[in-house]
Amino acid sequence: MNQPTSDALVFFGATGDLAYKKIFPALQRLAKRGELNMPVIGVAKSGWTLEQLKQRAQDSVEHYGGLDAEGFAKLSSVLKYIDGDYTAPETFRQLRQQLGEAKRPLHYLAIPPEMFGEVVKQLQAMGCTEGARVVVEKPFGRDLDSAQKLNVILHTAFDEQDVFRIDHYLGKNAVQNILFFRFANAFVEPIWNRRYVESVQITMAENFGVAGRGAFYEQAGALRDVVQNHLFQLLSNVAMEPPVDMANRNLRDEKVKVLRGIRTVEPGDVVRGQFRGYRNEAGVKPDSTVETYVALRLYIDSWRWKGVPFYIRAGKSLPVTATEVTAILRQPPAIFSEEPPTPNYLRFRVTPDLAIAIGALVKKAGDDMTGEPVELLGTEASDPSEFLAYEELLDDAMHGDPTRFAREDYVEEAWRIVQPVLDNATSVHEYEPGSWGPAEAEKLTAPDGGWRNPA
Ligand code: BG6
Repeated sequence: MNQPTSDALVFFGATGDLAYKKIFPALQRLAKRGELNMPVIGVAKSGWTLEQLKQRAQDSVEHYGGLDAEGFAKLSSVLKYIDGDYTAPETFRQLRQQLGEAKRPLHYLAIPPEMFGEVVKQLQAMGCTEGARVVVEKPFGRDLDSAQKLNVILHTAFDEQDVFRIDHYLGKNAVQNILFFRFANAFVEPIWNRRYVESVQITMAENFGVAGRGAFYEQAGALRDVVQNHLFQLLSNVAMEPPVDMANRNLRDEKVKVLRGIRTVEPGDVVRGQFRGYRNEAGVKPDSTVETYVALRLYIDSWRWKGVPFYIRAGKSLPVTATEVTAILRQPPAIFSEEPPTPNYLRFRVTPDLAIAIGALVKKAGDDMTGEPVELLGTEASDPSEFLAYEELLDDAMHGDPTRFAREDYVEEAWRIVQPVLDNATSVHEYEPGSWGPAEAEKLTAPDGGWRNPA
């Protein structure tokens, strides 16, 4: 069903990091495509003027993706700024005024989650939520309880269909390609189950530390920052049943079914790590036990996946920056040697570039029937879609299409799974920056041949 298009875009946190790195470049691209013929109102409390915000926007696009004269001029012509406190009615009075005739504003909350409730209340009190939509940044809450409370607050002002919980991984072409490759190819589905797949690994490695975000990271840790959202989204795409079609409800129903089938994590299924030096970062406590690395073993108790371990890990200050999913297939019987051949696998690379590859064995030249590993490459592309992800997702939200956003029940299930291991519930192991994380994490995957490290 066609939904009406939003007629104003309001973004809270206009002077912040996310606006600088992702939102302005996305807005410039939307403006260039003629999709931003509406007031774009930045809100923040920085003591800035509109001119300063425009300067910041220019800086942003110059650093992230490049300035496009036409797109930037259009963005600049519709950009407005309100400098004010998120708790002060005056800020929202000004907003109401700036919204003018707009009947369907889209409010983007690029602000810390603890402010969401207050902003929603103020928006509602000033009559800015009627006919409106809201985009909420991750992490959505801090745990199951706070996510449920946040959902209640949002629903006092917005219907669920007007709430867009954003996760930029869902805007990545490489993530959508997992789904596409699985369901558009006849040869994948027959082997995509417990009979052929022995284990699945998902690794999100970053070769940098907390990059000046120490204060944020202290409140989050790797589990909240990327596992409960980005990596669970990857997992859902890998493990879901085929949806009837790609329609919003059908696709999101299948995703949430995956999470419902996952057992709540026990402390023995998790290894947390912290890179040496993290405690010296600005904004970090000298005795912090927040994890910068986490590895989990999960089980999905579905007909398709029962008994197949899913290993998930994410870490900062690892040797490379890459996110990959690898499904390792069961070995065939040995007929060429005493040992069964090394297993085949399917590999999906999601960042920083895209690849889909099948690991196979071919015979080496010579008399012996011995094999060598090769990769059959389905596709490979450098993926400059860092900005595309936000551009596409904002565009979806402005057109009222929630398909690529997390639904209320999905977010709550995701928290339920990790709830017992949140808040530094297990001990944290130190690891060397530039290593693959704490040695303890090796034990998790040891029964299944160890971790596959992305190149
Ligand atoms: C963000 C996290 O959501 O995703 C960051 O807060 C992380 O800590 C980033 O670095 C990674 O995103 P991408 O798209 O670069 O893989």
